[in-house]
Amino acid sequence: MQKPTDIEKALQRKYPEQVVLVTTQNKQGKNNVMAVGWAAIASSEPVMFVLGIDEQACTYQNILETKQFVVSFPSEKMAKETLFVGSVHGYSRDKIQESGLRIQKAAFVNAPVLVDAVANFECELVEITKPGDCPLVVGKVVYAWENTDEELKRLYTVGKNHKLAGVRPIET
Ligand SMILES: Cc1cc2nc3c(=O)[nH]c(=O)nc-3n(C[C@H](O)[C@H](O)[C@H](O)COP(=O)(O)O)c2cc1C
Repeated sequence: MQKPTDIEKALQRKYPEQVVLVTTQNKQGKNNVMAVGWAAIASSEPVMFVLGIDEQACTYQNILETKQFVVSFPSEKMAKETLFVGSVHGYSRDKIQESGLRIQKAAFVNAPVLVDAVANFECELVEITKPGDCPLVVGKVVYAWENTDEELKRLYTVGKNHKLAGVRPIET
């Protein structure tokens, strides 16, 4: 049975929500990483992601500058790092070094791949639209990486206030 409720209250029932880490680089070559919960696949052929990224984010400015980024699926072991990179801006901080996230060079884009993530997708910017109060950044996947450990659980937001936990696909 359904009962009418506030939009905000109904939205509290959305969890688990996926979380991705988005790595970028600015024009000077400084790497950055942020957490993004508003993330979805936007196209299958070619594969594209759409990310809701606040204009105040250093990541947003980096994407405007380089038109490139990496969408990384964090593993459950990366909860502490995800909360950290999702709570401070990278303008005057080196969040990759401070968080201890391990990186490797991407194949095509100027943004790092996260070594311990479940999977990484190198993306080139397709467009930015703003239907509401948050810019939607659409990127086309140009290269993909997966972790050699197939048992790794992906990190999800499982409750409000950024409560994070691991979730693994059901075997088929
Ligand atoms: C679990 C989680 C999910 C988040 N989701 C988003 C999101 O979808 N969009 C966004 O703009 N910020 C989101 N944030 C906040 C950003 O990660 C945060 O503002 C970050 O400090 C921006 O970093 P930057 O300025 O270095 O790019 C999220 C934070 C956490 C912890």
